[in-house]
Amino acid sequence: MNQKEQKICRDIKQHGHDILCSDLFQQAGRQAHHLRSTVSDHSLNVCITGVRLCSLLQHFGIRLNEKEIIQASLCHDLGMVGRDRKYRTRLRAWRFHPDESAKLAKSIVPDLDPSVESIIKTHMWPGPCGRPQTKEGVILNMADKYASIADWTSAVTGRRYKDRIKQVISE
Ligand SMILES: [Fe+2]
Ligand SMILES: [Fe+2]
Repeated sequence: MNQKEQKICRDIKQHGHDILCSDLFQQAGRQAHHLRSTVSDHSLNVCITGVRLCSLLQHFGIRLNEKEIIQASLCHDLGMVGRDRKYRTRLRAWRFHPDESAKLAKSIVPDLDPSVESIIKTHMWPGPCGRPQTKEGVILNMADKYASIADWTSAVTGRRYKDRIKQVISE
């Protein structure tokens, strides 16, 4: 791994430690998501993409709160864990999981910043939720869309997205 990738791993492990170690995130590894992915694998894809966008934008003088992006991305789809039990239909899961994810994020990180909750609640924009309120919210929104495409592409090609980084984060 190069230095940039090592820094991504370090930052995610540091700011996402409590979430990565939580029972819920472990359960997310068993929840199917996006064809052949899982909620935790997809969330790590979003997280890695979000952190990469952060450092890219820093070169253009745009400063972002990386900790908020890491926490929000790791939690943004936790509301999908147990979706067949929690929601009557797939449509309802799609509609209501952002609020549920925000609630679960708060249960893992009790002193979670309200701005992280807001990022999670608006991650499906322009779906049926409010628009992102901060730059970090916009970045998470974009990272989620990009990572979702990566999930589907991986399912078709069999090539997994940023596998080495995910392995190191999971160690
Ligand atoms: Fe989502
Ligand atoms: Fe997502």
